[in-house]
Amino acid sequence: MRIGICSDHTGVEYKSRLISYLLGKGYEVVNFGTDSTDSCDYPDYAHPMAAAIEAGEVDAGIALCGTGNGMALALNHHKGIRAGLAWNQEIARLVKEHNNANVLVMPARFISRRMAVMMVRAWLLADFAGGRHQRRIDKIVQP
Ligand code: RB5
Repeated sequence: MRIGICSDHTGVEYKSRLISYLLGKGYEVVNFGTDSTDSCDYPDYAHPMAAAIEAGEVDAGIALCGTGNGMALALNHHKGIRAGLAWNQEIARLVKEHNNANVLVMPARFISRRMAVMMVRAWLLADFAGGRHQRRIDKIVQP
């Protein structure tokens, strides 16, 4: 499984830790930046990762910014993206089980790096539950 990962300046250290974790677990990782702690604009990193997921170049994505909201808003502009914001392990699991999120978004300014790793683990191990949740997802794009 190939996983894309991106962040703005607030999530750079989280991103590095997550890349090490994912590589250690045998995932392929594509880093969409940023790799600097200089202030930057989260859409510059969200859009290339979203496009790569839509093109099938990576299977899923992880994104971080200060609150997570900027990344989630930018990513969800793309038709092929369901980016879900989570801030603990249970929400990370549910965002896959209930929302089939293909991007996990995390708020770097409000979680620890250890929590970020545990959330990524929970999200990757979870399976979409389908059924009534698929009906609800269908209604997102077809109101
Ligand atoms: C950066 O200061 C901050 O605005 C950004 O990381 C994010 O929280 C935006 O939604």
